[in-house]
Amino acid sequence: MTVPDMTKEHDLVYEGKAKRVYRTQDPRHYLVEFKDDATAQDGRKKGQIRGKGAVNCQVSAVLFSHLASRSIPTHFIRLESENTMVVRRLSMLPLEVVVRNIVAGSLAKRLGIAEGTKPAFPMVEFYYKDDALGDPLVVEDHIVALGIAARDVVASLREASCAVNRELAPFLAERGLTLVDFKLEFGWCDGGLVLGDEISPDTCRLWDSATGERLDKDRFRRDMGGIEEAYTEVLRRLTGRA
Ligand code: TMP
Ligand code: ASP
Repeated sequence: MTVPDMTKEHDLVYEGKAKRVYRTQDPRHYLVEFKDDATAQDGRKKGQIRGKGAVNCQVSAVLFSHLASRSIPTHFIRLESENTMVVRRLSMLPLEVVVRNIVAGSLAKRLGIAEGTKPAFPMVEFYYKDDALGDPLVVEDHIVALGIAARDVVASLREASCAVNRELAPFLAERGLTLVDFKLEFGWCDGGLVLGDEISPDTCRLWDSATGERLDKDRFRRDMGGIEEAYTEVLRRLTGRA
């Protein structure tokens, strides 16, 4: 694989809030660069978290590798540097799938339930990816009737997301991290659904199992301080590296 020259504009396929995606010489693969830029509240709150790109890239690599070892297909191929990875090119669905093991964040707010409440079973939610609309919550009928995805695809997304939860929750628990909730994005590759994007402290809520300390992006969203330290601690627990 030839590393693309990241200064070449024509190699850049897409730039999002937290990542840049580049073409590689192999049309089936992309190179993803994780940035230190952080946003919240649909981009209205902006900042930088030093070292976040490297942490999110490496944490994602560990978690994707674990999922692959448990026969859950992901786009991850290999790390290229501390903040870049080579991935399979997917045709992304415009959906975010959120799995919640513990009530927190927007759900706590919407339903007026205390953060930390444990539901009877993990809850799956779908959000329509549209920055201008603020990624609204959608129900299965919206997705199917408005042609975003077919009903069997919605069922597969739900099943795959629950499978990810069943693998990651115990894996993280062994490392002293409670997987409170997380967001996944899927795409098509060779006719199958494949997990893409990232799984990191930006896209998961991770609470220290012993103390309940928040080791995720809520520290940025809620101006709690200690952000870099929290991200570094997650990486350390997953890799033994700081
Ligand atoms: P929420 O409680 O704000 O809806 O977030 C649920 C989970 O999804 C949480 O782990 C953070 C993650 N998430 C993202 O990865 N991207 C987003 O844009 C949002 C709103 C949440
Ligand atoms: N990533 C989202 C944004 O930039 C929100 C979030 O993660 O809280 O607005």
